Amino acid sequence: MKLLIINGPNLNMLGIREKHLYGARDYAALCEYVKEQGRRLGVEVELFQSNHEGALVDCIQAAYQRIDGIVINPGAYTHTSVALLDALKAVDIPACEVHLTDVNAREEFRKISYVRLACKKTFAGYGFDGYRMAMEYLAGKQAE
Ligand code: DQA
Repeated sequence: MKLLIINGPNLNMLGIREKHLYGARDYAALCEYVKEQGRRLGVEVELFQSNHEGALVDCIQAAYQRIDGIVINPGAYTHTSVALLDALKAVDIPACEVHLTDVNAREEFRKISYVRLACKKTFAGYGFDGYRMAMEYLAGKQAE
């Protein structure tokens, strides 16, 4: 099984951006954490990060018939991007939405998620653990 972990804009700024919200660990630490979870679950992991909406769409399209599950933290594009929603629908690969923060407890505009419409589950507010939960869910090895 191969999982694709996609991170959108500004997630490469982890460890620098708004540490009180997103924590002190950087994007490299997130990648290490995700890879470690992949090893633990016995699944292959591919990681992608971009600040560009079109590049994220290209990445989702390239997953077609190649990837078994997508974990996506679309960053701010969560709240704006019909293109990412359509791309997820197009490839029809089981997907989970992840947010480090609890987007429902923040500004009103963060409560809207387009990608959620194409996702099986959302894990928000669990920090790095949300990625693990999404990977476990997609690997069919859900923690109770
Ligand atoms: C985020 C939440 C988004 O609202 C924000 O734009 C981000 C990060 C999160 O992981 O909590 O960039 O997706």
